[in-house]
Amino acid sequence: MASDIDPAAADRLLTTTRAVRRRLDLERPVDRSLLLECIGVAQQAPTAGNGQTWSFVVVTDARKRARIAELYRAAATTLFEAARARARETGDEQTAKAYDGALHLAGVLDRVPVHVLPCIRGRIPDGSWSNAAAAGMYGSILPAAWSFMLAARARGLGTAWTSIHLLKEREVAEVLGIPEGVTQTALIPVAHYTGEGFSPAARPPAETVTHWDGWSG
Ligand SMILES: Cc1cc2nc3c(=O)[nH]c(=O)nc-3n(C[C@H](O)[C@H](O)[C@H](O)COP(=O)(O)O)c2cc1C
Repeated sequence: MASDIDPAAADRLLTTTRAVRRRLDLERPVDRSLLLECIGVAQQAPTAGNGQTWSFVVVTDARKRARIAELYRAAATTLFEAARARARETGDEQTAKAYDGALHLAGVLDRVPVHVLPCIRGRIPDGSWSNAAAAGMYGSILPAAWSFMLAARARGLGTAWTSIHLLKEREVAEVLGIPEGVTQTALIPVAHYTGEGFSPAARPPAETVTHWDGWSG
């Protein structure tokens, strides 16, 4: 059967869903219905054993966002500044610019109208799980989180994948009443996009990261 998807449109969505950190509308709220549409799309993602043990915690309350932003900055600022300096020293301007953006986002996170935290039931006890178990757990939430971001982009919303707040995961769980035994996997700021368009990022040719019939090189 011929594909019923327009590959050019699909590829455009997939290659231009970028980390949006500066061009977020900090004044305009995001409709709940729009967020629920995106979560509905995310629920179509695969899960190990069809578990679907995910939850999406959507934070719009200003005081909670302010506290989360405080925790985020406590986790991120020093680390990101050091990483940016390292990238600049080695001439990696793409990465240095990403950290410029990351520090900007950290500074305005409390004003981003929505924070979405994709969560999954279960917890990896420190160091004692097999790679297969860990892959099963994270593999059952991260594709859904990315689907959420793609669906958001298709609806004129900007998002960015972030996870540095996990250095303060317990404190954030307290702010949001997330039970013990539920793992947070990311914090996705969401807002209407204020830019004009997106382009694919520079990436090396696919051949450089592809191994045919076994590991080579
Ligand atoms: C696992 C993971 C963790 C990330 N954590 C953060 C973060 O804490 N803060 C942030 O601003 N960006 C974070 N990012 C976004 C990356 O910095 C971003 O994807 C990268 O710079 C490439 O930019 P692009 O997504 O626009 O191609 C994270 C991305 C991934 C996949």
